[in-house]
Amino acid sequence: MSEMKGKICIVTGSNSGIGKETVLSLAKMDAHVVMVVRNQDRGEKAQFEIVRQTGNKSIDLMICDLSSMDSIRHFSQEFKKKDDRLDVLVNNAGAMFNKREVTPEGFERTFAVNYLGPFLLTHELLDLLKSSAPSRIINVSSGLAKNGNVDLDDLQSQKNYAGTKAYARVRAPVYANTKLMLMMFTYELARRLKGTGVTANVLMPGFVATNLGKNSGSLSSSLMFKMGRPMQVNAKKGAETSVYLASSDEVKDLTGECFSKKKTVETCPASYDQEIQERLWNETGRLLSLR
Ligand SMILES: NC(=O)c1ccc[n+]([C@@H]2O[C@H](COP(=O)([O-])OP(=O)(O)OC[C@H]3O[C@@H](n4cnc5c(N)ncnc54)[C@H](OP(=O)(O)O)[C@@H]3O)[C@@H](O)[C@H]2O)c1
Repeated sequence: MSEMKGKICIVTGSNSGIGKETVLSLAKMDAHVVMVVRNQDRGEKAQFEIVRQTGNKSIDLMICDLSSMDSIRHFSQEFKKKDDRLDVLVNNAGAMFNKREVTPEGFERTFAVNYLGPFLLTHELLDLLKSSAPSRIINVSSGLAKNGNVDLDDLQSQKNYAGTKAYARVRAPVYANTKLMLMMFTYELARRLKGTGVTANVLMPGFVATNLGKNSGSLSSSLMFKMGRPMQVNAKKGAETSVYLASSDEVKDLTGECFSKKKTVETCPASYDQEIQERLWNETGRLLSLR
């Protein structure tokens, strides 16, 4: 384990589930953690519990809605005003929706929260991560990425929206597509960051008992998660790989890898397609008007 005392870590989606357990473990290691949440009350409740359990008072709370690019840009500016370094960024927040919804900024919501948001947040914080090197970016994907497909002509599922209800029937549900995009983003990012001292890795936490799927808007998918309880691991176990990637010396120089149960794993062939990774990167930059 590397020395985490005083290290500055951001964990998104940290008021519940895997994110909350990730913060709890990092707090026990004396890290300075910024919990990034979209809801003040839920965030404060989790923050209070973590401070009480660990005695670490260096746990901050900041608000950011990852479905809103405006909110991400605002958050990043505010963070940079407060902190002049960043050692670990954990892009953990994620969600699934049964019905297609479009955000006020015009993005399909699953795509925005699971892929576009982490992509933009990482870009907004990249200079800081580089100037703080050695530093780490950790993206929380899913084993379901293997069922995904990246259709560059329909990134926002306008032609074809397969929500959570469609899981059993469809080869590429939107959630899986966005988790595959996050994986491909990580591989491309790691290549682009070679030599900077910033590592980028992705992980699959397993089937974990959390709130995921509860608010998807589909009774059958929340039932699926409920019925899956005996097969699920608890959130503490589900957070182990995130914590390992954030803190272990064993992985300090590893980049561009996917991890499951604290081990590198191979991902689906589509995830390694460098031409699609690059085209996805460029198209995402265009959607976000990034230079
Ligand atoms: N559980 C599993 O079996 C499993 C399997 C594979 C991958 N994952 C991934 O693991 C990550 C953590 O999920 P979890 O299982 O711990 O589920 P969870 O308990 O539902 O946690 C998800 C977190 O993301 C936050 N979030 C959702 N939408 C957001 C938004 N627009 N802006 C900011 N934060 C937002 C949630 O906040 P609210 O509480 O405010 O909604 C919550 O804190 C996700 O990326 C998920 O896709 C989970």
